[in-house]
Amino acid sequence: MKISIMGASGYTGGELIRLLLNHSKLEIAHLTSRQYKGEYVYRVHPNLRGLTSLQFIDHDLERVIQDSDLIFTAVPHGTAVKIIPKIVERGIRVIDFSADFRLKNSEDYRLWYNYEHPHPELLEKFVYGIPELYREEIRRAKFVSNPGCMAISSILALAPIVKENLVEDRIIVDAKIASSGSGGKPSLFTHYSERYNVVRPYKLVNHRHTAEIEQELSKLNKKKLKICMSPHAVNMVRGILVTCHSFSKENINLSRLWKAYRSFYANEPFIRLIKDKKGLYRYPDPKMIIGSNFCDLGFDYDERSKRIVSLGALDNLIKGASGNALQCMNLMLGFDEREGLNLPALHPL
Ligand SMILES: NC(=O)c1ccc[n+]([C@@H]2O[C@H](COP(=O)([O-])OP(=O)(O)OC[C@H]3O[C@@H](n4cnc5c(N)ncnc54)[C@H](OP(=O)(O)O)[C@@H]3O)[C@@H](O)[C@H]2O)c1
Repeated sequence: MKISIMGASGYTGGELIRLLLNHSKLEIAHLTSRQYKGEYVYRVHPNLRGLTSLQFIDHDLERVIQDSDLIFTAVPHGTAVKIIPKIVERGIRVIDFSADFRLKNSEDYRLWYNYEHPHPELLEKFVYGIPELYREEIRRAKFVSNPGCMAISSILALAPIVKENLVEDRIIVDAKIASSGSGGKPSLFTHYSERYNVVRPYKLVNHRHTAEIEQELSKLNKKKLKICMSPHAVNMVRGILVTCHSFSKENINLSRLWKAYRSFYANEPFIRLIKDKKGLYRYPDPKMIIGSNFCDLGFDYDERSKRIVSLGALDNLIKGASGNALQCMNLMLGFDEREGLNLPALHPL
């Protein structure tokens, strides 16, 4: 199988190359970058020095289409929507990292992204790429839209209680996100002097990832839910922690929550339920998943207020992007879902 990445010089592209180099059943055909065409990959992703002698090519869609069985598009939203229709038209498998094909209703693009989706007819062709929710659909899919990093952590943290209709219809998501979540292109927001040491709330209401979280959780719940998300930029390079607050409709207890989470995630290779009685890491913590494809989930229940606290921690560049995309690719190509992803996290970090 020949695999190409468009937008391979970015953070998610770099992580995807690292994972693909560790995959036994693939050949990398092309890695594109406009800025670094002709340059060795290790000059941009220095962690890959000595592991690959590949060079970037220009953003040459026709060449990529001709030489690939599957294409990852790791480019910004608004760019993917210009490339992907041609890939779809030629019937080549694609996994898109951007938001351009995540939402099913084209009206939602006007509402959340403030643009008229130029190809609404393609939205239904894409499977929303969360294997824990859509494993069989992904196996059969040619076109997959990889979720947003804060979206996948929130959806995985809340799916079991939403599916079982245990909670009221308004849910609060408090997200903490690392700097690599903003990609490799420098800006004042990510400039070291401004970004270092922050706990910076931003986009407290109407963050765009809300749309896909609402879409997916409402589908699971079989009725419309309202998700209220507030993200915070924190002093990490990688990782996300979401702390989700919902209220149970009836009095429940912890064993009811254990039952919901255990049954929803039985046998999932990359989900770990963390609720320990001892030790430092009793709940999910991004520090414990960095470098791995795990999403750690946890929960607690406040009987006094009927509040359920659900936690999700993952590496935004792995289970939040490239690792999850590789997991989807493995399913689409009939490989073992864990191929290339059997990596424990780093500790200490
Ligand atoms: N960072 C995360 O944690 C994360 C998580 C989930 C999803 N995502 C999504 O994944 C995608 C990539 O994110 P990233 O963090 O890897 O971003 P990034 O580090 O900024 O990289 C973006 C890549 O796209 C290429 N690119 C930019 N503008 C382009 C254009 N107009 N035409 C062609 N290529 C273009 C860039 O290469 P050249 O400029 O050299 O061509 C670069 O390789 C985005 O859609 C992002 O929303 C990111």
